[in-house]
This record gives sequence, C-alpha cells and structure tokens, in this order.
Amino acid sequence: MQKFEITGGIPLAGSVRVSGAKNSALKLMAASLLTTEKTILYNVPLIQDVYTMADVLRAIGASVIISPGRVEIDPSGDLSYTTPYELVRRMRASITVMGPLLARQGRARVAMPGGCNIGPRKLDFHFSGFEKLGARINVEHGFINVAANRLTGDVISLDYPSVGATENLVMAACLAEGRTVIESAAREPELIDLVKFLTSMGARISGAGTDTIVIDGVDELGGATHTVMPDRIEAGTYMLAAAVTGGELEIDGADPRHLEIFISKMRAIGVGVDEYEGGIRCRGGDDYRGTDIATLPYPGFPTDLQAPMTVLLSLARVHSIVTENVFENRFSFVDELNRLGADIRTSGHHAVVHGNCRLEGAIVEAPDLRAGAALVLAGLAASGVTEVRRIGHIDRGYENFEQKLQLVGADIRRVEAGEPAPSPTPFN
Ligand code: EPZ
Repeated sequence: MQKFEITGGIPLAGSVRVSGAKNSALKLMAASLLTTEKTILYNVPLIQDVYTMADVLRAIGASVIISPGRVEIDPSGDLSYTTPYELVRRMRASITVMGPLLARQGRARVAMPGGCNIGPRKLDFHFSGFEKLGARINVEHGFINVAANRLTGDVISLDYPSVGATENLVMAACLAEGRTVIESAAREPELIDLVKFLTSMGARISGAGTDTIVIDGVDELGGATHTVMPDRIEAGTYMLAAAVTGGELEIDGADPRHLEIFISKMRAIGVGVDEYEGGIRCRGGDDYRGTDIATLPYPGFPTDLQAPMTVLLSLARVHSIVTENVFENRFSFVDELNRLGADIRTSGHHAVVHGNCRLEGAIVEAPDLRAGAALVLAGLAASGVTEVRRIGHIDRGYENFEQKLQLVGADIRRVEAGEPAPSPTPFN
C-alpha cells in the first residue's frame, strides 16, 4: 500500500517524454498469440497492466520476456485456451485474448470479467460478432466459452463503435475463411496501431481509421517486430499538468493528430498549445475560460481525459458542463475533487463544474486509473499538501509517473502507507 504526497503550487517547467500507449501495447501483446513465431514489441511501457498481460500470455503457455521498453513473445509451444479468473479480475483487457485464441486454437475459455470501477461494461458486441463469424458461445460457472471449427467471414454491424469488440473481431477475422466486414467500427488510433502490427504479421486488412474495416482471412500469420505508438492519454495528462500549475511543458513524442479535439478545447479554455517537430508544447496561464465537453468515441473528446480535464475546468473563471457519454460511472472522482475544494455537482451523466475554485491540499483516494491521475493533477495545483491514496490504480497505466513529474519540478513523493509494499514484478 503506497500513496503519493504532493506539495502543490509549483508551476511545472521542462520536458517530459511520453511512453508507449498502454491501450495499444496490451492488444499487440494479445495479437502475438495469432502466430506460432516470435514477435518483438518496442516502446512498451513498463506498467502494471503490461505485467498482467504478460502473466495472461504465460498462463496460456507463451514465453514472455520483458526488458526496459521491449517485450519478446514466443507463443510457439502448445497453448492452452484458458485465461484464469485471477488475471481477468486484475485487468479487464485480458478478454482481448479471446479473438486470437478462437482464431488460432478454435476455442477460448476466458473468465467473465467482474464489476468495474467505471461502470458496467458488457461484452454483447464481442459475443454477437463472434457468433456472426460462426462461433458458438456459452457462459457457465463464470467462464465464457467460445468455440468454432473454422471461423467464416461475414458482415458484422456493431451497434456502437466499441474499441474492445472491434479489436477482438479484427484479430479473430484475420484467420477466418473469406472476407469479414466490420461496420460502425471503432476508429481509435490504438486500433490503427494494432492493424499495422497485424498487417506486418501478414494479415490483409483495409479501412482501419474509418468506420468500415475489411479483413480478408489468411491461413496463417508470421512473427513481426513493431514499435508501439505514443500514449495520447498520457500526453494529454501532462499537458493538463502544465495547464493546472500555470507552467510550461514540452511533451516529447506526443502526436497532435491524436488529440485534435482535446487541443481545441485546451485552446478554447485559454491554454497555449503549439506543435513542434516531435512533440507538443503546452503553456498554462492564470485566467481560464470555461468550456463544455462531451465525451465520445474517437475522434470525439476522449473519456480517458474527462477526469483530468475536469480539474482544469474547476480552475476556470466560469462554470462548465461535462457530459460523460461513454461510461456510466466515470464521475466517481468528483467527491474526492470536491474534498480538495472544487465545486462540482453531478446528475446522471452530466456534471456542472463551478469554476473559480481555490484547491487546497487534503487526503483523497484514487477510485480508478484516470481519476487517480486527475487527483494528482489537482494536488499539483492545490496549495499545501495533498495525499493521494490507492495509487495502485495509477501504476496500472502511467510509466514512472512521479519520476516524470519530479523531473519537471513537481514536489511529489511515493511513500509507504503503513503496510508493506508488494514485491516488484521481475523483468521476465
Ligand atoms: C477501451 O475500453 C479502453 N481500454 C478504455 O481505457 C477506454 O476508456 C475505452 O476503450 C473508450 O475509449 C483499453 O483499451 C484496455 P469500449 P473498452 O468497448 O474497449 C459499452 C483506460 O483508462 N459496451 O469502447 O472496454 C461499454 O460498456 C481505459 O485506459 C457494450 O455495451 O471500451 C462502454 O460503456 C478505461 N457492449 C462503451 O461501450 C460491448 O460488448 C465503450 O466500451 C462492449 C462495450
């Protein structure tokens, strides 16, 4: 059990290098199961979720070697098709092995993910898509069983552009017989990164980045080497760190094309944002306008930046309205933020953020990954000392979070919260 202690009020200055994207790296690791050859991934962030995905692959029978920035996966031996409950419970993204296992092994048995801090997250689009490809599905004793002799391509029209369902179905369709067309597909940059990787393994896919993806099945895929795209959510988090502290940061490696709506909202609020070759420069101020935001699937405003953005909006001169359209329970941080002095009222999927607040240090608890990062940002902006507890959530998705912040001047320390810390995960 560890916590962050933050003494706020220091404008951050300098440059931060963005890591590889968590939400791409995890899927690329799952996709490595589609071949019997070795794959090598570079720019993989060393975060808890990556270690968990490595454990998932090992439980299935693949060898995974993790070294700084590099993951080597060898799935050549006999694979099992089962993913244990303990791992799926730790990380919901474990379910993305379903598509690759179904395609390669003809079956997958994956523990049903339980509740989730950001709301109920159903799997119906994954299931109906697999059924369209000819798979049989049943759920018993808390496990999802998916099986098919050989998947066969079909037209799958998603009711909603689910990121996870699109990824699972694209991976499964790579080895299906014939053509699969996925309509209303997700358009997230991480999905494009996955498709680039699959293509370098020999898959035949077109349309990634549009709402219709076409996959022509092949008999087998080979090993590949790939560099994970930069983490746009991490980049946005550091841009907000500059803004809420009135500082100036260069976010090296950030790709502005992945953050267009977010950047336009930052500018509307009064944050200076410029692009330079290889990154984004972000300059905070001390007089911010409010603006309304509504989260939507890409290219809309990203739900993963909603909580950190709400911290900035609470510092604006006037009120703003935040609408969360993607997940049902992504305002769980609001009570914690109000403990720091914000004035935010929620009603259903809307939050009214009364601006003009002066944040003051207090003890708060991180309810989930992005909300945890938001509370750290609030602590950096607040006067006095803020203690953020339950930071295990933050370690799931931000590589070297406090070290990166310390390098640009933040006063943030990781301290034991009374109980012994878990032993660090080894590099293999
Ligand atoms: C991915 O989750 C990301 N996770 C999330 O990031 C991100 O917030 C989300 O996409 C949206 O961008 C990973 O990539 C590991 P969805 P995913 O399927 O794939 C509903 C973070 O903090 N839905 O697009 O689970 C679902 O309940 C995380 O890094 C169904 O109803 O997102 C949700 O309300 C959190 N049925 C909405 O769609 C389904 O079958 C979006 O889910 C599937 C989804």
